[in-house]
Amino acid sequence: MGTFTAHESAVRSYCRAWPAVFDRAAGCWLYDTGGRAYLDFFAGAGALNYGHNNPALKEALLGYLAGDRVVHSLDMHTAAKRDFLAAFGELILQPRELDYRLQFPGPGGANAVEAALKLARKVTGRTDVITFTGAFHGMTLGALSVTGSPFHRGGAGVPLTHATPMPFDDTLDGSAPGFLWLERLLASRGGGPDKPAAAIVETVQGEGGIRVARPEWLRGLADLCQRHGIVLIVDDVQMGCGRTGPFFSFETAGLRPDIVCLSKSIGGYGLPLALTLIRPDFDIWEPGEHNGTFRGVNPAFVTGTAALRAYWGDDALERSTLAKGQRAAAALAALAQSIPGTPIEPRGRGLVHGLAFEDGELAGKVSAAAFERGLLVETVGPRGEAVKLLPPLTMTDAELDQGLELLADAVRSVC
Ligand SMILES: Cc1ncc(COP(=O)(O)O)c(C=O)c1O
Repeated sequence: MGTFTAHESAVRSYCRAWPAVFDRAAGCWLYDTGGRAYLDFFAGAGALNYGHNNPALKEALLGYLAGDRVVHSLDMHTAAKRDFLAAFGELILQPRELDYRLQFPGPGGANAVEAALKLARKVTGRTDVITFTGAFHGMTLGALSVTGSPFHRGGAGVPLTHATPMPFDDTLDGSAPGFLWLERLLASRGGGPDKPAAAIVETVQGEGGIRVARPEWLRGLADLCQRHGIVLIVDDVQMGCGRTGPFFSFETAGLRPDIVCLSKSIGGYGLPLALTLIRPDFDIWEPGEHNGTFRGVNPAFVTGTAALRAYWGDDALERSTLAKGQRAAAALAALAQSIPGTPIEPRGRGLVHGLAFEDGELAGKVSAAAFERGLLVETVGPRGEAVKLLPPLTMTDAELDQGLELLADAVRSVC
């Protein structure tokens, strides 16, 4: 452990909550160097929807590497990229009657967001972007400018401008119809904001505390954007790739966003890959106008393609995710009710769930107690008040139940 404290920057964080040295991993299990097993309900913050070292993806990756196939290629044509583009079109876009150009912006979610913001500004010739309270879009300056957390914004060291925060769904407790405030501002002839270029939204705020937007609220936003010529960007970096059931989290609400950001599980195996999906008539980039050295990591194309072929040729994964989600929701509701005197609010959709406590201290204690019992769950929310459950979608019902029982035990020990 001393090697990390001696050499690694103070910025490290997850390792502080989970002081173990991890070594091996399979499915929803992580093992430390001493051989202790941990049930992973964190799943790489959404990068491991198909679990650790998924055998189907590993086989494709090992075959690719063993054949001395191209690993690094910037944005040159490779067979691996061609296979990925074809699979994404055939299995994801065409069945949903979606038409997008695929931009590979750099490997992380923040890269996908940066590209989306730049392009929305270029398309509209406007600068400001509507963002929502509790939003999380990444740590680069553009992504940070549309992120809510004062702690993370403080790290920027420069003013974060050209973003206009608006209340996320239900922030006003139903006291005003969804977009009345924004509609009035946009209609105002005196003192309203400049006409925005874009609105960027998460359908479920993950880092924001598992706050689920209602489909009608999302449809209201899409309608407002369309009427005002505002580019609608859905950031599906964490909630995409099946986390809420369907491949895209916005499918349930029937949205057709202008731009979609994907990353995390799109590479399938935990390998870095990001995508900015662009409405074809908005694809007005000049060649190389937005570039980067790691735009499309070929091993990630290989595992990403294998994941699409293994899991998205039919609706089996979607159905099992929804069923597991209901199982988790029922268990969490029962747990919350079984603890009188401690208000606990279960939240969630699909297979992303949270238990929101009154303060971050309690949630932090629950996460620590879960770790002691061999379960990894992180805390999220503006005050770190929600314990987040983000297990691999591929886990068995028995593994899900085991994790829920460990969590229940942790909650009872703290409350
Ligand atoms: C919704 C959302 N957008 C963007 C990001 C940033 O992704 P990355 O950390 O890969 O830059 C995250 C990361 O958690 C996220 O949850």
